[in-house]
Amino acid sequence: MKRVALARHIEGVPTPADFRLEEAPLPTVEEGRFLVANSFVSADPGTRSRLSPGASYAPPLPPGATVDGFAVGRVIDSRNDRFPVGTLVTHGGGWSTHAVSSGRGYCIALPDIGVSDSAWIGVLGVPGMTAWFGLKRVAAIQPGDTVLVTSAAGPVGATAGQLARHFGASRIVGLAGSAEKRAWLVDECGFDVALDYRDPDLDLAVKAALPDGIDILFDNVGNAMIDRMLPEMKMRGRIVISGQVADYNSPAEQVPGIRQTREFIARRLRMEGMVVFDDLPSFAGAQSEVAGLVKDGTLKTKEVIGEGIESLPGLFSGLFSGTDFGRRLARI
Ligand SMILES: NC(=O)c1ccc[n+]([C@@H]2O[C@H](COP(=O)([O-])OP(=O)(O)OC[C@H]3O[C@@H](n4cnc5c(N)ncnc54)[C@H](OP(=O)(O)O)[C@@H]3O)[C@@H](O)[C@H]2O)c1
Repeated sequence: MKRVALARHIEGVPTPADFRLEEAPLPTVEEGRFLVANSFVSADPGTRSRLSPGASYAPPLPPGATVDGFAVGRVIDSRNDRFPVGTLVTHGGGWSTHAVSSGRGYCIALPDIGVSDSAWIGVLGVPGMTAWFGLKRVAAIQPGDTVLVTSAAGPVGATAGQLARHFGASRIVGLAGSAEKRAWLVDECGFDVALDYRDPDLDLAVKAALPDGIDILFDNVGNAMIDRMLPEMKMRGRIVISGQVADYNSPAEQVPGIRQTREFIARRLRMEGMVVFDDLPSFAGAQSEVAGLVKDGTLKTKEVIGEGIESLPGLFSGLFSGTDFGRRLARI
């Protein structure tokens, strides 16, 4: 088997040199465990928060550890009756061609519902479920709500915008960094407007796009954008802190603050962070509904596929340069 390990703790923006490829014999499968041959493994921006010392909401990974990521694959050897040979599973075993599991933690035997294997670590996996539960549970989305999504062309953002429509939002605006991304959001994903977040007049552009203000800010990027958008929030608006891709590469003391907190009082705002695994017991119902939307063509997705486990460091580093876009996956 092959795996990608963290070569050293990272300062600033990650590069492929921060990782190293290692080979090892396939592990022996002990009683109660099973061996999965992965078919796809993901590169996730949230992993960045564990690759420096003094990391954020999760403890740092030590150098030498297998890098975090999600995978989908088939059981090829088993001494566990719940996961017989041939079972399709998704798990969080990291950047590796194979994984041994006992089935505990984030490890799910998948039903055959006619979707691609890779969807289980994309729109039906952690990114898609973050969009679903961020809107449904954290923001308590209501028909008629107006929604602003940051990093809207990413797997979480694009799904959030499209699900907001499914849940009855009246107007959906996305922020994205390239003309190609913005065209995809409007032409394919049905966003009403897509704006360039680097526009110095972004505040005016958001006011024009959402003249009555924002009911739900679904934020994937971090504090500076939240602070900037606070005056655009409507009365009783909700802010979902999904992720902080603009802040992950900065040491804590350089992460911008949120200053305009008076808006929370004036507009009775609520801001809440989420970790999608809190919603794990409810994944199956959401996944079956999202699968229906994918299969009937209502919900659009995009993937960037690299070949082999060795493609993951490059796919991961590319998350922070905003070049090609879509769920970044290595095909094993
Ligand atoms: N809370 C949870 O449980 C949970 C679970 C999964 C994911 N997440 C979070 O959800 C967020 C989105 O994840 P994703 O997988 O869909 O990734 P993503 O949004 O596609 O992240 C990569 C994109 O972020 C944008 N970006 C990079 N640097 C930026 C910067 N400095 N300022 C603004 N935008 C920047 C780039 O797009 P542009 O070209 O548009 O700049 C880039 O293509 C991440 O923050 C992730 O950590 C949270």
